[in-house]
Amino acid sequence: MTPYPPLAGRTAVVTGAASGMGAATARLLAAQGASVALLARREDRLKELADEIAAAGGHALPVAADVTDQASVDAAAALVGARLGRVDLVVAAAGVMLPNPLDDGRVDEWTRMIDTNVTGVLRTVRAFTGDLVAAAAEGAAADLVTVSSIGAHVVFPNYAVYGATKAALTHLAASLRSELGPRDVRVTNIEPGLTDTELGTHVDNAQLGPDGQLGAMFEAIGPLAAEDVADLVGYVASRPRRVNLRQIVVLPTRQA
Ligand SMILES: NC(=O)c1ccc[n+]([C@@H]2O[C@H](COP(=O)([O-])OP(=O)(O)OC[C@H]3O[C@@H](n4cnc5c(N)ncnc54)[C@H](OP(=O)(O)O)[C@@H]3O)[C@@H](O)[C@H]2O)c1
Repeated sequence: MTPYPPLAGRTAVVTGAASGMGAATARLLAAQGASVALLARREDRLKELADEIAAAGGHALPVAADVTDQASVDAAAALVGARLGRVDLVVAAAGVMLPNPLDDGRVDEWTRMIDTNVTGVLRTVRAFTGDLVAAAAEGAAADLVTVSSIGAHVVFPNYAVYGATKAALTHLAASLRSELGPRDVRVTNIEPGLTDTELGTHVDNAQLGPDGQLGAMFEAIGPLAAEDVADLVGYVASRPRRVNLRQIVVLPTRQA
């Protein structure tokens, strides 16, 4: 892993911390000395991870939250503020990927993806941007990291709505940077390719899921590990305050 200066003194919020990239990122940030609020819906998972982090000498706060629910995100932000104080590093990793042919008309899946992957990030940004701006105004490093996807750029049949949510997120991150950069808040958008996480387990289509097309892609390409993405978050957050890695595309070596 890349050596970088420790993140002691930083206070982080990681959404999607119950599994995959979010959990790996929370582990890494805590190991580097940050206090980390763990946000996702599965509270049991968050408590387990917080215990693991504490056993390793770190500090984490499990906070059950649903990013599709503004009141839930606001309550989480209030709890984080009360328990950990001002946040200076936000990693928005919560997301869902639900591929199906467009003409199946799965409004339920479309709504869930848009509400989680796009509006969910907006809710997170709304809840924590005040902290980031205030931290930056006092001369501290302040970071917003969004987790988009290579799917923002590449067209995959049956992934139209997922790809559209990620294209929206990539655009949103660039726009946010234009608003937050002048106030010294860094915005980094990470676009991973195929990564070994729980993401594919929610696919509601046997042909497309882990026992079908997705599984075949894992076989053929070989995925990234969630820790590879976490490593990038640790790297960007530990650069000097003047340095903002704006956009990172990270793919398994064999992925086109
Ligand atoms: N894996 C890949 O190949 C890949 C590639 C490119 C981009 N990505 C992106 O990477 C991000 C992380 O996904 P992952 O691959 O690490 O998959 P994952 O293991 O499924 O993690 C997704 C996380 O999001 C949380 N989440 C889902 N809905 C939520 C909600 N409504 N409110 C709060 N948390 C919610 C889940 O926890 P709960 O279910 O407990 O809420 C889980 O912790 C996603 O945005 C995904 O689109 C993944």
